[in-house]
Amino acid sequence: MKVLYASSEAYPFAMSGGLADVAGALPKALRRRLIGCRVVMPLYSTISDELREKMTFVTSITVPVSWRRQYCGVFEAHIDGVIYYLIDNQYYFKRDSLYGFYDDAERFAFFSRAVLEILPHIGFKPDIIHCNDWQTALIPVFLNEFYRSADLYKDIKTVFTIHNIQYQGKYGKELYGDVLGLPAGRESLLEYDGCINFMKGAIQCADKVTTVSPTYSREILYPYFSHGLDGILKQFTYKLTGIVNGIDYDVYNSETDPMIYKNFTIDSLEDKAYNKSSLQKEVGLPEGDDIPLIGIVTRLVKHKGIDLVKHVFEELLENDLQFVILGSGEWEFETFFHEMAAKYPEKVALKLGFIPSLAHKIYAGADMFLMPSQSEPCGLAQMVALRYGTIPIVRKTGGLNDTISDCGDGVGNGFTFADYNAHEMMYSIRRALEEYKDKEAWRVLTKRAMEYNSSWASSASLYIGLYRELSGKR
Ligand code: GLC
Repeated sequence: MKVLYASSEAYPFAMSGGLADVAGALPKALRRRLIGCRVVMPLYSTISDELREKMTFVTSITVPVSWRRQYCGVFEAHIDGVIYYLIDNQYYFKRDSLYGFYDDAERFAFFSRAVLEILPHIGFKPDIIHCNDWQTALIPVFLNEFYRSADLYKDIKTVFTIHNIQYQGKYGKELYGDVLGLPAGRESLLEYDGCINFMKGAIQCADKVTTVSPTYSREILYPYFSHGLDGILKQFTYKLTGIVNGIDYDVYNSETDPMIYKNFTIDSLEDKAYNKSSLQKEVGLPEGDDIPLIGIVTRLVKHKGIDLVKHVFEELLENDLQFVILGSGEWEFETFFHEMAAKYPEKVALKLGFIPSLAHKIYAGADMFLMPSQSEPCGLAQMVALRYGTIPIVRKTGGLNDTISDCGDGVGNGFTFADYNAHEMMYSIRRALEEYKDKEAWRVLTKRAMEYNSSWASSASLYIGLYRELSGKR
């Protein structure tokens, strides 16, 4: 079985969010199961020289973008047993970040065409093309419209994974002919609510649509979660399924992680305590093992539940606890936490930005990890926290609901609350603080968290099952 995994970002080349983690880890897990999975992504100018040195030039071709023909260089790199194809075009990808440009629609229309156009030139004929999010959503559309009749393409099946339904690739209708070059009379492929909607096209044209957790696959059928797409999803529920992500055990491993202060295992939790005091010292909080330390690593935006945290923050600070917060985002939240850190320096430490090494230190050093998301397609941080024995406090939504269960029942691995309500969140934080006082109970919970299996192995099996069902191949 051969799978071409198309993604606009992948660890270690380019990262802006969880998609990069998944695109870095799932292909590796599939390779371990002897599935021939290769990855294709853009060659952004932000990719480091160190990684560029691992690339070799394969070929160059031209790719149609409506009436234009654009240069497309293909490079290849081998990382951890996985082959990556990197699509080069400096006009589209020599930018100082991945997304957010006036011509994003054209950039990813080019990339999507390129993924299909390179197939005769790379000596790899996939049975499945696995597309991810709006940036690669045009692949199933283009495949059906332009390539189906050719032998090489006629049996290829497509899977489209929604990592976050909020970003759909919505543009004005004028792009239909001039940028996408799709034939007149077929506008209904992409039109939705008066716009061109890339994700809608993929939902319609892909053979399977998946989301990154079973709960989220049900949630997005409701307007509260669907950002307008529930109508089209309801027409295609027969091809919609949810498979929860795993995390990369090579990267997130308390025993080997070079970014944390001291490695530890389930049998050396005293070394986790060392990580806590080192973290307190580094971020300028008073050191003390008895003060519960709550970590937050997130984009500081509303749908991550940060408005709930803001709403009851000062009330929460009346408890004996500390917060270490890492992230950046909306001005309202950045300034709020900035103010709080200045007002309560003994209790609140804030670092603005995306700092992977500090994130790892927080996963390892905090006692609890707060994720009160309004919606969360899967969420990876809660699983990383578990792996480092840091107990998640989460709202029961999406992947948080599928990976974290409340320890109140004696078997769960975290603390959960159901309603999007600041006081409900506060109540579960207080339950965690109470539980923390019982050192023995907390140790049991910590061990249970660390034993939770969030490796890619079982999710990779589910994807393999899906690929087999579609392709009829082993
Ligand atoms: C997106 C989602 C997140 C998910 C990740 C990887 O970033 O917001 O919940 O874990 O994609 O699938």
